[in-house]
Amino acid sequence: MALNFAQSGKATTGKTGPAPTQPDRAPNAAAPPPLPLAVADALGMTATTPQQASATRTRLMNRDETGYDAALEQSIRPQRLSDYIGQRALKDTLAITLQAAQTRNEPLDHVLLYGPPGLGKTTLAMAVAREMDAEFHLTSAPALERPRDIVGLLMSLKPGSVLFIDEIHRLNKVTEEILYPAMEDFRLDRTVGQGHTAKVLSVPLPKFTLIGATTKAGSIANPLRDRFGMTHRLNYYEPDELCAILHRSARILDIELTDDAAGAIARRCRGTPRIANRLLRRVRDFVTVQATKGDEPSAITPTVADDALNLFHIDADGLDATDRQLLSLMHHQFSGGPVGLDTLAAALGEDARTIEDVVEPYLLQLGLIQRTPRGRMLTPQSQLGLFANL
Ligand code: ADE
Repeated sequence: MALNFAQSGKATTGKTGPAPTQPDRAPNAAAPPPLPLAVADALGMTATTPQQASATRTRLMNRDETGYDAALEQSIRPQRLSDYIGQRALKDTLAITLQAAQTRNEPLDHVLLYGPPGLGKTTLAMAVAREMDAEFHLTSAPALERPRDIVGLLMSLKPGSVLFIDEIHRLNKVTEEILYPAMEDFRLDRTVGQGHTAKVLSVPLPKFTLIGATTKAGSIANPLRDRFGMTHRLNYYEPDELCAILHRSARILDIELTDDAAGAIARRCRGTPRIANRLLRRVRDFVTVQATKGDEPSAITPTVADDALNLFHIDADGLDATDRQLLSLMHHQFSGGPVGLDTLAAALGEDARTIEDVVEPYLLQLGLIQRTPRGRMLTPQSQLGLFANL
């Protein structure tokens, strides 16, 4: 499979690269990286401003990886469906459709994947492309701002290519309308000229598969949704699945991780593999730092995992500093709500979309907050259970 990446959010150019191979080890696994600021800071080894410290606290639950973390994340991504842990029902259905498409020598029908961030939509799409032995083009809706962005991308596709569009609910109308005939009839319609002399030129496209991913299936326009042959929801992962993912990642990163420590991390990662892997890397940082202070580098045990995660202000339920701040604000400043999202975002100094897409889903899942037509509210459960410690 050739891979076209636009990790920065820019559309791919259509140039193909070599198929990525699964490394035995992460990049630089033998040589530990320099101490990340987050760890040094948490251990009191650097002087930081309160703003930096707060950025450090919240970063652990954030949505995207950057820099070295992104490279590590990439290195531990499962490459094939058989390596992909969890989402069993979805994998079973996909496996059948994949096999049928391969038997008929046709591309897979367009697929829409939805669910909270970090559950592996991109990873799954990449694994599908690999199973189909197809070129993979990755982009996201905000990168497809101008008509020429999507046109260029469509023109670069080869027969069977998989085009992955993340955050597909954010496509603009013009781009969406270019996609309709492309998805339905593998045709690109371009209007040439203006006014009454305008003509529509149709250019045939190779048959390709569009995989759209979204955290908000409800925000996708009906005509777009209707053009997907399959729609699948990704669910939060069970603790045993998260433990299996953590053990697999630890093996690739050459980390010794006990079963109980995997369980301790799995309990705090919000049912989300991306967070599980990120916490694993932060615990590994903690172990590295302990070693620089004279302690022997050791396996990750439950005590080490707990100490590290406490240091990063992630509590036993996986709530981080931002979650607790949000709950506390709702309780103390807004008497438990209802309070509007924008008001909450302003009071918290966070972006409304981050609150809605990243912070709230887990609080909703834990039953700590409710979304009502009049705004967000604390549930009786959180009012009763939490505020002794906030
Ligand atoms: N890493 C992240 N998500 C994963 C998954 N579902 N299976 C295996 N490894 C993963």
